[in-house]
Amino acid sequence: MKKVRVRLGSNSYNIHIGPGLLMQTGARLEEIGFSDKVVIITDPTVKSLYGNTLKQNLTSSGFKVLILEVPEGEEQKSLEAAGKLYHELTDFYAERTTPILALGGGVIGDLTGFVAATYMRGVPLVQIPTTLLAQGDSSIGGKVAINHGLLKNKIGAFYQPRLTISDISTLKTLSPRELSDGLAEIIKHGAILDGEFFSYLEENLDQIKSLDDQVLETIVFRSAKIKAEVVEKDELDLGLRNILNYGHTVGHAIESVSELKVWHGEAVAIGMIVEARISNKLGILGKNEVNRLKDLIARAGLPTELPSLELEKLIQAMKHDKKILQDKLRFVLPKSIGEVFITDEVSPSLIEQVLVE
Ligand SMILES: NC(=O)c1ccc[n+]([C@@H]2O[C@H](COP(=O)([O-])OP(=O)(O)OC[C@H]3O[C@@H](n4cnc5c(N)ncnc54)[C@H](O)[C@@H]3O)[C@@H](O)[C@H]2O)c1
Repeated sequence: MKKVRVRLGSNSYNIHIGPGLLMQTGARLEEIGFSDKVVIITDPTVKSLYGNTLKQNLTSSGFKVLILEVPEGEEQKSLEAAGKLYHELTDFYAERTTPILALGGGVIGDLTGFVAATYMRGVPLVQIPTTLLAQGDSSIGGKVAINHGLLKNKIGAFYQPRLTISDISTLKTLSPRELSDGLAEIIKHGAILDGEFFSYLEENLDQIKSLDDQVLETIVFRSAKIKAEVVEKDELDLGLRNILNYGHTVGHAIESVSELKVWHGEAVAIGMIVEARISNKLGILGKNEVNRLKDLIARAGLPTELPSLELEKLIQAMKHDKKILQDKLRFVLPKSIGEVFITDEVSPSLIEQVLVE
């Protein structure tokens, strides 16, 4: 088992990473002072796979457990879904001290986090991520949110969990596409800040795909640690945290123009390649490094080429992206593998050129 301490003053907490950790949840909650009631929020697939195991473990530690189920899908990150959960929490007499456990992928983590941040002005949140995307990225950093109209992930809060438990055994039931999707953000963490970790991923990709426990534990640990270190320096996303958006200016546009047919990690993977090529055209990133990135992304089972989407719509979608600064598109671009820079100086014609190439 590995542990990452996220140091955020009075909001500091631990991330536990390892196989079989679901079975230790009750003991971990007691360690940080919880007793009595807990609420688990999950979706039907995750509930059928892990709901009972978790419930039994908590019950045997003496907790009274309520499991709430939210249907699957991005559309559940909504005020309606949150409203329904508030009712259910009230019916259970959940109190300000009742911890809420988010058991599932990034959708459950974001929605549950939003509910925990707002119900009774904030109740304790525990993240139990079960996808690679959630373990390596979305459960870390405290961004919790729902969508509203055109505002994707924009109604929310910075709300840190009291504890995160990443049981890597749960990754074994993911489909190959879900596993690949989660790898994108992990590759991104290596690409932006840790060239040595990027090399580790290159060397161990086959073991990742064959779900080797030790390698999965290592990649979730190193990815979580990289993200935690960025968040520690810029919890509220006012500066440094921007670097986590590498691949996202183009990626978000692909995700939204494809109407979510291209998944988040897949879109970020294509975005990382497009943005690496922009850096290459600017004379900064070497061709060899663009190829290394593309090769790793391809070996991870992720797409490397833009799907056929209307160019004009993609560019419009990029302009709606949150990184617009005084009408200029903001890009996080790689300088080398393991280092990035932020620029507002990419001309629209260069973006178009790289997108159509
Ligand atoms: N808060 C953040 O910082 C942040 C960062 C990146 C992404 N996100 C959000 O994360 C969401 C995407 O998360 P996701 O990719 O985890 O998708 P998801 O939560 O929709 O999960 C994908 C699917 O996998 C299933 N699943 C989950 N765990 C499983 C398991 N162990 N075995 C089998 N199936 C399992 C779920 O039931 C679901 O059908 C998006 O809403 C995105 O906006 C948030």
